[in-house]
Amino acid sequence: MAKIRQNIQLLLSAQAISQRVIELARLIEAHHVGKELILIGLLKGAYCFMADLAREIDLDIQISFMTVSSYGSGQVSSGSIKIIQDIDCAIEGKNVLIVEDIIDTGQTIDAVFKYLQSRLPASVRICTLLDKPSCRKVFVKADYVGFTIEDHFVVGYGMDVDGNYRDLPYIGIYTSV
Ligand code: IMP
Ligand code: MG
Repeated sequence: MAKIRQNIQLLLSAQAISQRVIELARLIEAHHVGKELILIGLLKGAYCFMADLAREIDLDIQISFMTVSSYGSGQVSSGSIKIIQDIDCAIEGKNVLIVEDIIDTGQTIDAVFKYLQSRLPASVRICTLLDKPSCRKVFVKADYVGFTIEDHFVVGYGMDVDGNYRDLPYIGIYTSV
């Protein structure tokens, strides 16, 4: 395993992630045959997933990003969502796929979903690499889920704790030392 860290226990290897990304791409293709699709990635956490997923989906797609803040620092959701950086394209009448790293309480994706819906797209679907359903505070169901996981705080493949570990090619369970 590349980039071994003492305080991080392997949960999903780079190989397991890339295999699942391929499977998700095939599902997304099947649901969007002949349609234009705009992927909207939520920064920074979804940057790795977005890059890999976008390159695997064999459709004509466009890419945009949003930055929303949900966590201050640390491992507990602040519960309030703020748009730091908005998308740079019109989505009215278009098919949108939100690309997210992980759904935890559901508050972030719920707010983003409602916000994007208000801009009158033809459809909005949600693709999340990870889902922690046991942590939900708001009902949200993603259309595409990479892996459903237990209530662990995870890092790597884009996900961080206080800005660290986003560069790890695998996903691991973080334990503070
Ligand atoms: P939610 O609003 O509670 O669903 O939080 C979603 C956001 O919190 C995700 O987009 C992540 O950026 C972050 N997050 C939630 N759980 C974790 C985790 O286990 N590790 C790293 N980031 C997380
Ligand atoms: Mg995120």
